[in-house]
Amino acid sequence: MKVAILTVSDKGAAGEREDLSGVAIAEVVPGFGGDIIAREIVPDERDQISDKLVHFADHLGVDLVLTTGGTGFSPRDWTPEATHDVIDREAPGLAEAMRQESLKITPHAMLSRAVAGIRGRTLIVNLPGSPKACRECLATIKPALPHAIDILTGAGGECARPDERKS
Ligand code: MTE
Repeated sequence: MKVAILTVSDKGAAGEREDLSGVAIAEVVPGFGGDIIAREIVPDERDQISDKLVHFADHLGVDLVLTTGGTGFSPRDWTPEATHDVIDREAPGLAEAMRQESLKITPHAMLSRAVAGIRGRTLIVNLPGSPKACRECLATIKPALPHAIDILTGAGGECARPDERKS
């Protein structure tokens, strides 16, 4: 599974803040079979975010893009809108699951406007901006990611477990 990580942060892009969220994501990715083939930082600029998502999906052909940051209420938070700009189909269950599980940890989880969606054969998932939140949200969606990518790329089509299949 080819994975790209995109950190969305004005301070990170300016070199004024260490990208600890990108590091936290990179530590989790091998645990669900992912190979990180690109990791970049962009400022909170809608066009720059969407351009980078298109580059990862269409030119690098990654299976999964994980973004971090820019999902909240700050005037500079535009990651969900930039993601909507480039996806063909939304995958709301992933974002719903992350918010649902995160609400058990902090009421601030309801402030995440994260979206997940599909562009061609690439799944794009927004994660919040803190390393802790990235770890927590990835722990929630991790069990479903390999199957999601299998279906999306045509590598596997059986959704039912063997014991659930009729024949
Ligand atoms: N989700 C989890 N699991 N853990 C967290 O600590 N923080 C929340 C929320 N989601 C959090 C979380 C907070 S404080 C905010 S403001 C929103 O994510 C949006 O974060 P962002 O603006 O950094 O993307």
